Amino acid sequence: MRKPIIAGNWKMNNTAAEGVALVEALKPLVADAACDVVVCVPFTDIPAVSAALKGSNVRLGAQNVHFAEKGAYTGEISASMLKEYGVEYVIIGHSERRQYFGETDETVNKRMHAALAAGLIPIVCIGESLEERETGKTEAVLDVQIREGLKGLDDVSRIVIAYEPVWAIGTGKTATAEQANETIGFIRKTCAEVFCPKCAEKVRIQYGGSMNAKNCKELMAMPEIDGGLIGGASLKAEDFSHIVHYDR
Ligand code: 13P
Repeated sequence: MRKPIIAGNWKMNNTAAEGVALVEALKPLVADAACDVVVCVPFTDIPAVSAALKGSNVRLGAQNVHFAEKGAYTGEISASMLKEYGVEYVIIGHSERRQYFGETDETVNKRMHAALAAGLIPIVCIGESLEERETGKTEAVLDVQIREGLKGLDDVSRIVIAYEPVWAIGTGKTATAEQANETIGFIRKTCAEVFCPKCAEKVRIQYGGSMNAKNCKELMAMPEIDGGLIGGASLKAEDFSHIVHYDR
């Protein structure tokens, strides 16, 4: 009943020309997709990739958005600037932004509300570090990220949540399908407590972290996992298409 969503996070990869070449190769490969397909591209790729995606079933996403509508925020991009180019999704609070750029649950929360107010669908990232997992703090960490990061949200099913264990990102170490399923089940249970059971049943929760053509089938077969947020494997059209067709 929850439509799966496979999203690529290109991170800081692909110039506009490279991005267009990638989506031109991708479009025919995923035209028959049964799930939602999204590419989250660098800001400077947005105009060209947006034009290249016109008329296709691939939706466009950004990798961050500022919380103010406009003003003295050098280097930032507003939701209306994204909307102007047909952006529909935006990643918020990726662990790389939390780790390297001082993103906190508070700024994640502000960005999420700004995105929703503008009609963008936030893909809010949460996840624990290796040390937190090894010391048994995973659930406590996720609990805080949900309560603080999603504070003030009326209906959690308006967003997409990406569970990305930090230790699985770009490391080739994937959480086992059981581990990912169990943790996403915990996230859903917490959403039921904080928001409402009905919207917790509806919210789509992705897994992210070294998901690839080989392991996607097993991960996606898990009942709690509604999709993937794909880094490295989204940079090659064939690999990404494989993940989009995870049940083949
Ligand atoms: P990798 O798929 O490269 O591990 O990256 C995952 C990720 O961070 C997606 O946002």
